[in-house]
Amino acid sequence: MTSERPVIIVTRKLPDVVETRLRELFDARLNIEDKPYTREELIEAVKTANVLVPTVTDRIDRGVLSQAGPELKLIAQFGTGVDNIDLETARNRSILVTNTPGVLTEDTADMTMALILAVPRRLTEGALLLRSGSSEWHGWSPTWMLGHRIYGKRLGIVGMGRIGQAVAKRARAFGLQIHYHNRRRVAPEVEKTLEATYWDSLDQMLARMDIISINCPHTPATYHLLSARRLALMKPTAYIVNTARGEVIDENALARMIENGELGGAGLDVFEHEPAVNPKLLKSDRVVVLPHMGSATIEGRVDMGEKVIINIKTFLDGHAPPDRVHPAMF
Ligand code: 8YV
Repeated sequence: MTSERPVIIVTRKLPDVVETRLRELFDARLNIEDKPYTREELIEAVKTANVLVPTVTDRIDRGVLSQAGPELKLIAQFGTGVDNIDLETARNRSILVTNTPGVLTEDTADMTMALILAVPRRLTEGALLLRSGSSEWHGWSPTWMLGHRIYGKRLGIVGMGRIGQAVAKRARAFGLQIHYHNRRRVAPEVEKTLEATYWDSLDQMLARMDIISINCPHTPATYHLLSARRLALMKPTAYIVNTARGEVIDENALARMIENGELGGAGLDVFEHEPAVNPKLLKSDRVVVLPHMGSATIEGRVDMGEKVIINIKTFLDGHAPPDRVHPAMF
């Protein structure tokens, strides 16, 4: 590390208060215009920085990391998911990676719940219809715009970590029966509080649920976890909600099934090839699409920034940063 203030390269525009604090503490190079970095700019950044602060939109793969300068010691991701970073290569090059878990749990769970409500109750369909000035609306009708009740239905949560549990808590209050699949069964007290039923077989759970919510991270093990084969196990009336990562679902297979009426509908905040969205999904009335807004609250983004700063500061002060993705590395 140089004797000057450490160089922190921040790849995207962050809330003002976060950027200001970063400038007070470090030689922070900001992206005020919020123009996403090209691959060349990312390579330049890893050559120059002591600490890189990327986001989900930056692909920090082996090719980029192999050009990192000897001064790059920390990648302090602004975000919880780190699937945009090649963790293996970072570890091999002794570059520590941190993230921002916990602070976006409640916001993401809220958005998940919003989609669980929006799809069966046709929320955006109704709202768009009115906004378009459609002649279909003549006032209330007993048989028009009918959706489906969620109360009493079965919700299957795929990934019962922090966010999955926060979704379960909300969904309980809406009268949903909670089921889940996770690599590990959660503690008995948690199961009891959430009145949650565990399925070690994802296939078995999928076939029995009315609504599926994806709340697991995207890792090599969860890529296309909801494959065409697994999606076909779901009831043709079931809904699927995804606020985690698009890559967990085979998006083409899902879009095909929606088009063919083989699924009740979908609520999607994330997509396999962001910012692209499969046109079949955009077209369908049974799909609610959002542009990756799960953690998009000002409070959440400021808290994420604060976590990034704490991770950088503790690391530069010679301590183990709290949110190490590879805890054993420090
Ligand atoms: C973040 C997210 O805003 O934190 C995550 O994993 O998916 C988003 O809500 C984004 O990733 C920022 O990098």
